[in-house]
This record gives sequence, C-alpha cells and structure tokens, in this order.
Amino acid sequence: MTLKIARMTVKELEEAIRHHNRLYFELQKPEITDYEFDQLVLRLKKLNPDSPVLSEIPPDFSVEQKEFRKVSHTSEMLSLDKCYSEKEIQEWAEKFEGDLIASPKIDGCATEIRYNSKGELILAATRGDGMVGEDITANARMIRDIPQKIPSGPPFSKGGAEIRGEIYMKLSVFKKYKREFANPRNLAAGAIKQKDPRKTRDYQLSFFGYDILGLSLKSEGEKIELLKSFHIPTVEARQIPKEKMQGTYDYFLSKRDSWDYETDGVVFKVNQVKEQERLGFTAHHPRYAIAYKFQGDSGVTTLKDVEWSVARTGVITPVGVVDPVQLSGASVTHVSLHNYGLMKKLGLRKGSKVLMMRRGGVIPNLESVVEAGRGAAIEMPKKCPSCGFATELIDDFVYCTNKGGCRKAKMEELEHFIKVIECDGFGEKLIAQLYENGFVKDPADFYQLKREDLLELERMGEILATKLIGNIQAKRQLPLDLFVRSLGIRELAKHTSKILVREFKTLDRILKVGEEELSAIHTIGPVIAREVVEGLRKRRGVIEKLLRHVTLVGATPRTGSPLREGPFFGKKFLFTGSLLAMERGQAEKLVEGKGGEIAGGVTQDLDYLVVGDGGGAGSKLDKAKKLQAKGGKVQILSEGEWRKWVGL
Ligand code: IVH
Repeated sequence: MTLKIARMTVKELEEAIRHHNRLYFELQKPEITDYEFDQLVLRLKKLNPDSPVLSEIPPDFSVEQKEFRKVSHTSEMLSLDKCYSEKEIQEWAEKFEGDLIASPKIDGCATEIRYNSKGELILAATRGDGMVGEDITANARMIRDIPQKIPSGPPFSKGGAEIRGEIYMKLSVFKKYKREFANPRNLAAGAIKQKDPRKTRDYQLSFFGYDILGLSLKSEGEKIELLKSFHIPTVEARQIPKEKMQGTYDYFLSKRDSWDYETDGVVFKVNQVKEQERLGFTAHHPRYAIAYKFQGDSGVTTLKDVEWSVARTGVITPVGVVDPVQLSGASVTHVSLHNYGLMKKLGLRKGSKVLMMRRGGVIPNLESVVEAGRGAAIEMPKKCPSCGFATELIDDFVYCTNKGGCRKAKMEELEHFIKVIECDGFGEKLIAQLYENGFVKDPADFYQLKREDLLELERMGEILATKLIGNIQAKRQLPLDLFVRSLGIRELAKHTSKILVREFKTLDRILKVGEEELSAIHTIGPVIAREVVEGLRKRRGVIEKLLRHVTLVGATPRTGSPLREGPFFGKKFLFTGSLLAMERGQAEKLVEGKGGEIAGGVTQDLDYLVVGDGGGAGSKLDKAKKLQAKGGKVQILSEGEWRKWVGL
C-alpha cells in the first residue's frame, strides 16, 4: 500500500498511527512496514510535536535496555547439575529406575511463559535469580515460536499452563552479528531485554519448550507431546534406556555441527514424573536431570599479550596470546579478539584470567574475563605494526592511515584477489617479490605483467614465467560475483556478492546502490550494507583500473538488447524498496519482456519508478520526487499499481 503521507492532515495522521499501532501491538497483524510507520510518526512530529498520540507509541528504536517489572516464579527455576564423563553419568543413573529422555542442551536464556485458562499468553519472564525474574512479555510476543494462543480447555481448564523453555538465536541469524557479539547467547540475552519490542522482533529469536508445570502429566514424553500439540517447538528428544546414555551422547555430539543452534551438552531426564518426585531436588538443581557437557570445549587460561595484525582492508585486528589451553583436543595459544571495540568491552588486561571456548568445537573464542588481574589495560596501537604509520579508530575498528601504502595490507589485498579469481602459480612469496620490485601495486597490475618483468625475479625461469603470464591472462573474463568479491571489501564475501549480483545484475547498478536499499534485502543488515557501500566507493579507482583488463561475464548487461516492441517499448523503469509480490529480478524480467528497459538510476530519462510495497524506498524515491517537483517526466508507481499494469 502507498500512504499519501505528505497530504495527510494532523487528524488523519493521528488516526492512522493509532490504528497501525493497534494492528501491530495488539493484533500482531501489521499492515504497513516499520519504515512507513516511522514516516507517519515523523510527519506528525513535524506538524504537531505536542500531539498526545506521540506519547502513546513506544520510544524510538534503541539498544538501551529498560527496567523490567519483577515477577516471582511459581516454583524456583533451577539450573542443571553437570557432568563430564561416562563414569559420572553412570553413577548418577544408578540412583533411579526406568527410561530417560535425552535432548541436546541449547545454549540460550531460560524463560518461563504463562497462558491463562483461555489459552492466551499472559506472561513471559526471564529466569533472573531463579526465584524472581523480569517481565519480558511484550518482547516475547515478538518471537514467532511463542504462540499468542494455545488451545484452551482440558487438560488445563482450571488454571492455565506454565511452560518453561529456552529463548535462543539460531546460528544462521547470528551470522550477521558475529563481528559485534561474542556469541548467540549473549546477543539473545540482550535482545529479549530491549526497550522496544520491535527491536526484539528484528533479532529473530527462537524458542523451544522443555517443561510444562502443574498439569499432573505422567512423563516427560507426555509433556513433549503436549507441547507439540500447542505448536510450541521442542528440541529433538529421545526416549532411551540407561544403557544407551553414552551412545546417545555420542550421537548428539556427531550431529552437533549440523544443527542451526549452539549446543553445549546433552540433557538427560528421568522420564517418569513419579520417579522424579521420589528423587527430588538439591538446593540448586533437580536430582532427576543432569547435563552431560561436551568435553574440553572450554577452559580457563591467562592472557599473556595482544598482538595486532593488519588485514587486507587496512583494519588492525587484535589477536590474544594465551597460555596453551586444551580445547576439544587441540592446544590453543592464539585467539582472535575480533575488533578493538569488542576487546575493550571485555575489559582485558595483561594477565587476565579468561574463559576460552571452542564453540561448535571449531574456532576458539574468548568468552569472558573470569578475573581481571592487575596487569596493564590493553590499549590500541598508536602505530601500524606493519608500516609504522599512525592508526585511527573508526567505530570499533583500528585502521592504518597509510591508505594503499601499508605493505601488509597490500599483500593481503593482492593475495585475496589472486585467491578469489583462482589464478594458479601466484603464491605468497611471488606476490611479495612482485610488490617489492614495484611490478604489482594494485590487482590490475597483474594483468600488465610481462615475461621480462618476471624474469628479473630470483629463481624464475622462462617456462615458469610464460606459464604464469598465461595463467593470469586466462583470467580476463570474470563472473561479476567473483569480481566484486575479489575487491577485498570486508563483508563482501561469497554470500553477499552473490546477493548483489542476483538483485542488481550489473556492476553499474551495484556501484550505485545505497545503504538503505541494500539493507532492505533480507539477510543484509545495516552494518553489512554500510561496509559494502563504503567499500565500493573507496575501491572506485581499483575497479576502474581492473575494468581496463577484465570483461565481466554472467551478468545481464544493463541496456542489453531490449525488445524492439511491446507495451513498455521505449520506457525506462526502475524498482526501489523491497517488492512483496516477487523478487526484483523477476520483476525486471517482466518489464523487459514487455519491451521496457531497466534504468541504472533515477535520472532525467527515467519514466517510471516502481516503489516496492515492502518499504525501504529511500533515496531513489526522494530523488524522483525532486525531479517531479522540477517538472521531470518520472512517474512514481506503487508496486500494486505496477502489478495491475503488467496484468498480475
Ligand atoms: S531441561 C532444571 N532441557 O539449561 C531445568 N534444559 O542449566 C531443567 N537448557 O535453565 C531443564 N537446553 O534453560 C532442559 N534440552 C534442554 C535444555 C535445557 C537448554 C537450559 C535450561 C536450564 C539450563 C540449565
């Protein structure tokens, strides 16, 4: 839908905001995008800053956390006892009879959710100290896995139901936050405590239930079935005899890397509730359940020092040097600290005792500081460790100011280019020689290498030189996605470059894309969008130079060979914002199929700007409006209007 915001009166704006606020928060059925909603609010703020309606809407998006109301749990939310070996788990199992339920232990935030006797969600609360948690109901309503309503009636017609489970973030969602947050659990914990529930929703959290209280159910198996009937997700749970505990643990461990969530062990629970009641509790945990942790994934060690290493983008990254610690069977001595900002947040000092973990058993990560110690705080380097130039801090990152001249950054950049275009024979040493001898300073220089240049290098023979020249010349045709990836822009790796090509098709258009437009694409967040747009802008010179040697293939030329007929013949179209009905590529094909042409940007000769109904139209729309105001021919169509045109 298109809102004619500019033409709305104060009264209309107030009504619309109230209406959409209700649709959003009470009915959970928004009809407009957040972007459009914000536009309504901005307009009203401008026309009548004192409007009472403005105080009825939640404050601006904010990462700040608020104070939450305290809630007492009906029974204490305990933690689980832990064990680390087959011997220990068997000793534990000697104390009871019967089968067990085994499930992976997901690393998230324990949460309680309550439904009333009509099956309506009435409360969600964090674990807190186990007795008293915090009321996060409004935020939990934004998590899809948590139903707003479950079937009412038996078996809980009397008092409703209380469900316990875990709020967590899927690894596929966490991917885009990796640079800024240490792990998905910490991020999930912050995400459920946002001031504004919409912000929580944006973090796309997940939930699974593992317990229902107060319904006189006989077994864990029954609880799981009931949860499933409520459409509450549950984790894989296996009913097993005691003898299969180790086998089940091994099985879950082997599957661990294939799951889209972080796990740190296997939870075993006595299946029969009667037997659970007989076993009872200690002060901290139930005796009928235990977490058999995945071994050796974590360990405490001492941070000895921080080394700074220069990446191809000129970012100087901190790497922690630690006393050797065994993690998942490997001795770990170095750990990436990601960036200066994150490192600062951890509060690291030389000599700090730190908790290290190999999450998913793969990359070691410094999770937290266990004991700060008295050593010196670690400061950012004033000079680039490679070229000695001054450094600068931009956002959370330390950069070398010797733009384009820092040897280490250059080497990384050149090596990256060769690796991405898959050119054989150019190893690290050769690239270093070529750089030092002044033959290659930019990726484009590889294409200008001559046999004679190479022959000047040590240990270079005629045959090898000829072969190398052949190898690089064979790479004059590059698929567009490889080309953009080869530029070495942080965040413009495989996935994002493929998306760019899919969405925008030509280099011209990729170079013109704005942050807003990029971040409107699913899986591209604002941080990535900014890095990509900035990176492409900074690499303009390199791109121009490369294009003198390279032909791009596998992309549809912008003004290819449009049909010479059709209802749209002679008309230029451009799409902006996200389309709801189809992918942008499909929409463009439709236009081209009717003889129209896809324009590269909003210019004087653009005929139609089609604004996707999914929001995020941004600067193109503004530009088109400006052109219109100056009497330009461009017409602005909503996605709906356009669909009617093409007969959809
Ligand atoms: S059963 C006493 N099953 O681990 C609670 N818990 O340290 C019995 N957790 O607070 C819980 N995955 O939030 C259970 N498959 C699973 C779990 C699980 C994660 C959490 C839970 C609990 C914490 C215990």
